Amino acid sequence: MEELKKIAGVTAAQYVKDGMTVGLGTGSTAYYFVEEIGRRVQEEGLKVVGVTTSNRTTAQAESLGIPLKSVDEIDSIDVTVDGADEVDPNFNGIKGGGGALLMEKIVATPTKEYIWVVDESKVVKHLGAFKLPVEVVQYGAERLLRVFAEKGYKPAFRKQDGQRFVTDMGNFIIDLDLGKIDDPVAFASMLDTTVGVVEHGLFNGMVNKVIVAGKDGVTVLEA
Ligand code: A5P
Repeated sequence: MEELKKIAGVTAAQYVKDGMTVGLGTGSTAYYFVEEIGRRVQEEGLKVVGVTTSNRTTAQAESLGIPLKSVDEIDSIDVTVDGADEVDPNFNGIKGGGGALLMEKIVATPTKEYIWVVDESKVVKHLGAFKLPVEVVQYGAERLLRVFAEKGYKPAFRKQDGQRFVTDMGNFIIDLDLGKIDDPVAFASMLDTTVGVVEHGLFNGMVNKVIVAGKDGVTVLEA
């Protein structure tokens, strides 16, 4: 599995050329993409500016000597490469397993070529087996959890070391155990209009390419 993640991450780096502004994703697959960009910066003199999607990725990029800008300093991003937790045949997906969904969506939005890197286990018929992360402000979060429970979404606060997980943006994450999401677009718009929800892990129709690494090789799915 680790080897497939590495193949997907390194394959994606071929879309990055000199002079580009590059969104650097978060997670165990995007990690290999960031490492490869760092290697090319150091060994080949690749000239890029990175925009990161989490504090973790910022630390990794800095350690590799990749020049960075904040998302506020750029007008657009040429290519962003990130991981995903699930992707369906309509190029809807779930992200946020690593807790960075808000920053990831903020970086994805001004991106011209948005690429996901996944191993083949992430390609699914229907979204929802993976628990959907919903980032919520801390104020009123317990009430929101009860509202989600009443709707049958089987919500749970994400925990880390026994404590509620706090995102890089200072919010909680509630994971929804939905099993199967029949209409991801409708579900996203319901969450978009729920007060207290900052962002959610449904990234519907945003991605342009999905690089899938499998036992039999790499496939590139074009949206
Ligand atoms: C981070 O918040 C996530 O959106 C990740 O991109 C996603 O969870 C995929 O992570 P892995 O590549 O580690 O499975």
